Amino acid sequence: MSMYRPDLLAGKRILITGGGTGLGKSIGQRYVALGADLVICGRRPDVLSQTAQEFKSTLGVDIETHVCDVRDAQAVQDMMDAIWAKAPLDVLLNNAAGNFLARTERLSTRAFDAVVDIVLKGSAYCTLDVGRRWIEAGRPGTVMSILTQSALTGMPFTVPSAMAKAGALAMIKSLAVEWGPYGIRTVGVVPGPFPTEGAWSRLMPQERIGDAPIEQGVALRRVGQHHELADLCVYLISDSAAFITGEAVIIDGGRMLQGAAGASAYNMQHWPDSTWDSLKPKKNTA
Ligand code: HXC
Ligand code: NAP
Repeated sequence: MSMYRPDLLAGKRILITGGGTGLGKSIGQRYVALGADLVICGRRPDVLSQTAQEFKSTLGVDIETHVCDVRDAQAVQDMMDAIWAKAPLDVLLNNAAGNFLARTERLSTRAFDAVVDIVLKGSAYCTLDVGRRWIEAGRPGTVMSILTQSALTGMPFTVPSAMAKAGALAMIKSLAVEWGPYGIRTVGVVPGPFPTEGAWSRLMPQERIGDAPIEQGVALRRVGQHHELADLCVYLISDSAAFITGEAVIIDGGRMLQGAAGASAYNMQHWPDSTWDSLKPKKNTA
């Protein structure tokens, strides 16, 4: 059951990069269900057309798809030309990403570039292109970027992604001020663990999950559900959030704070009463 009006996003034209799979697809489904005019892009045409067909059969809605590698600035410009030829965008969601686990000292420069070029440069190319068009036309707009906890705390073994997401956060904060006077909002979300094939196949090998189940590291002891993230992403791009800019909202079930509390906090939650009792001052019976 939705807490939103069914026409909340009617009249909003929204591009989700990497919207053919995973979280981008789930967010897109929600946007379409609330009346948005959705455009998605990605590198694999078969994935895009499969998602478009699925939206047509489940929601009865046609969405627009573009094959585009966001690392290619010219391809981004060509895609935006094609999108604007039909109608201008109101919202850009920078969701496309690349990431994998690796020891940083063993990364090749091509491996480093593969991630940074998608996450940092790809988000920048899309944002600057739509921003330019909005400013020239005197139109307002919203850019939302999907970040990760690593943008705030850093993260071992995914250093290129952490560096790139931190850069994307700096973009949100910088442009909030620079483009605020034009009526352009820049916001972010920082999801905790939300299972997707793309992320889990690269970042959650059995060796990792076997060492420490993900849920143990989350204060609420569970992973996120896609609809929970989608609801936040609806709010942040809606007119109800018109006074929010430059902010990245964490939605992680308390994972970051659980990590900050350290492993002993988890252990302490499982201490028996006898351990707590042993810490109390002894009653003076003399
Ligand atoms: C070391 C690796 C590697 C790995 C690729 N490379 N995978 N190096 N360990 N696991 C190296 C390759 O050897 C090559 O370097 C270089 O990276 C480029 O590889 P390609 O396969 O040619 O690149 P490309 O086809 O462009 O693919 C990009 C990619 C890939 C990032 C490597 O994983 C991808 O397409 N990812 C998109 C989807 C994705 O990552 N989704 C997860 C997002 S989750 P050499 O030197 O050998 O040529 C997320 C955060 C989730 O972002 C947080 C969860 C809690
Ligand atoms: P995903 O399904 O692998 O999504 C990544 C998408 O990006 C794919 O559709 C991919 O499609 C597209 N993409 C990758 N490189 C691209 C490029 N160069 N140009 C255009 N599109 C490209 O993974 P996900 O888990 O849903 O991740 C979505 C977002 O959430 C990412 O920003 C990720 O960092 C963030 N996030 C996820 C989690 C989580 O727990 N899942 C947690 C925190 C943050 P193609 O391969 O077809 O191009």
